[in-house]
Amino acid sequence: MCGIVAYLGDKQAEGILVEGLKRLEYRGYDSSGAAVCNADGQLNLVRSVGRISNLAEKLDKGHLSGTAGIAHTRWATHGAPVEKNAHPHLDHTGKIAVVHNGIIENFGSLKKWLISKGATFHSDTDTEVIPNLISHFYHKEGQFESGTTNAKKLEMATRLALTELVGTYGITVICSESPDMIIAARKGSPLVLGVGDGEYIISSDAAAIVNHTSRAIYLGDNEMAVVTRDGYITSTIDNIPVASKVEKIEYTLDEIELANYKHYMEKEIFEQPDKIRACLSGRIDLNEGSIKLGGVMDHARELVQARKLNITACGTAWHAGLVAEYIMEELAMLPTEVDYASEFRYRNPIIDQNTLQVVISQSGETIDTLAALREAKNRGALCIGVVNAVGSTIARETDCGVYLHVGPEIGVASTKAFTGQVTVLTMLALFIARRRHMSQQKLHTYLDALNRIPDQMAKILEQNDYIRQTVEPYCDKENWLFLGRGYQFPVALEGALKLKEISYIHAEGMPAAEMKHGPIALITKEMPVVFIVPKCSQYDKIVSNMEEVRARGGRILAVATEGDEDIKKYAEHVFYVPDTLEELQPLLTVLPLQMLAYHAAVIRGHDVDKPRNLAKSVTVE
Ligand code: F6R
Repeated sequence: MCGIVAYLGDKQAEGILVEGLKRLEYRGYDSSGAAVCNADGQLNLVRSVGRISNLAEKLDKGHLSGTAGIAHTRWATHGAPVEKNAHPHLDHTGKIAVVHNGIIENFGSLKKWLISKGATFHSDTDTEVIPNLISHFYHKEGQFESGTTNAKKLEMATRLALTELVGTYGITVICSESPDMIIAARKGSPLVLGVGDGEYIISSDAAAIVNHTSRAIYLGDNEMAVVTRDGYITSTIDNIPVASKVEKIEYTLDEIELANYKHYMEKEIFEQPDKIRACLSGRIDLNEGSIKLGGVMDHARELVQARKLNITACGTAWHAGLVAEYIMEELAMLPTEVDYASEFRYRNPIIDQNTLQVVISQSGETIDTLAALREAKNRGALCIGVVNAVGSTIARETDCGVYLHVGPEIGVASTKAFTGQVTVLTMLALFIARRRHMSQQKLHTYLDALNRIPDQMAKILEQNDYIRQTVEPYCDKENWLFLGRGYQFPVALEGALKLKEISYIHAEGMPAAEMKHGPIALITKEMPVVFIVPKCSQYDKIVSNMEEVRARGGRILAVATEGDEDIKKYAEHVFYVPDTLEELQPLLTVLPLQMLAYHAAVIRGHDVDKPRNLAKSVTVE
């Protein structure tokens, strides 16, 4: 949720660190800081509350000189977002600085013990125990043989300190007595080491690396990299060498630039036609009438023989999972259950060797989703990842999987990842269905309809101005309802989530029929109700629900199928989507809702890409 950048090379570190932090700002943005070692072996530190621009302004006044440094953008967990809690944190001697993502669960007892040994603390964070613990071992009499270099002492002290920690961490460490070295280590929180030409950039996210180099090492869990001017060494925390692979970062700088858009969310909404085309590309073949998913081919037999499918995910990814529940049962005839990843391991999920576990995550780092994956794996399920971020922890820990290929998603509110997830899950359902029972002709009908989705999305996006004008008069309404049935029920949930997370309007999504069991009491002309009502098997029933709302003075907006003029009798405003197969409708009906939420947030004056209290990737439980 927070972001880490570290640099060691031949350039001044300050600018590179600040630029890297800006690229990571979407991950957390309540405070930030940087520590740089200069040629005289001094470690200087600057921290600031608020956006990275505040830190940059502060640095303009007295800059940090040196070619090795570490930096951090924070999303507060322990301790309020005030300067003393911003990272980096120093040990009590001021020689060792650490930035940290994650949570140290036993920090309370460690802090007490360190204080008893003479350490002093200045923040309310859990992180501050890390530099102090390293410092304890680093300075401890008799800990090292005489003649041990400072660099070796720092490395060994860090290893010793890390074995004392309970919880999760991605850290980088720098020390004024070893100014030509940075240590990076991870347990449960991602770190990538970018290998440039005579320089190294370490980050929690490849977005801060890609403008320097496309060559990177994704550190594994419980691994450490010791980076010096002569190169790097990777090992486990307890010092077993690891032969790490240098991989290519899959995306380019263009993909993480805003281009002509005002916000990343806007850009990502508009990218959907191209990105869904990329997601389908090479996987569906209309001429052959086939579907190829290279990432699961080796497990095709288990997929076909499965008796049950469990899906776990959080937030928007969970909504994609709910859509998949309908699709899997309809197309693949596979009994499917969908769980919040955060609840999954607190039940007693029934799993055997005929159970498939599908884990959906844009970032591939959501800690609850990761924990659910590990639980399912321990219980013997074959685990399939539906992940966007290549090389992420979930992608690495699943047995097999299908990447979204929709490019990096930076806007905090997920948009193209949702449609990418639903696309991949639909292809997965068809992959299983064809191998179980689906006729070639029927598969062809689905492939043909899937192939038309990107162009149909582009057509919906043409309504952008109309959606903005329509939503404007409703923007002062503080409570909204989103209603749909069948495939549109998860879309209703997603529409409500988009609206609340960026416009801070209270919104609820629910199955349209459930409205009668309570929420109907809320209906007044002050409460806009959005019905998602494309031509589908439950169309007439939804129209009845619209009548019920209208009879009580509710204001209705609708998402409906092109050509459906009748719907105008029930709704004040209609956003039309092209016709497609019922199973594919969520890929289209969600777009007007994404645009509606986006415009509502902009009109209400919110920072769409940095909504209050949110972070892009939730790496704490
Ligand atoms: C909402 C949103 C979140 C994420 C959720 C899971 O717009 O972005 O609800 O969907 O935090 O994140 P991932 O998919 O990265 O596991």
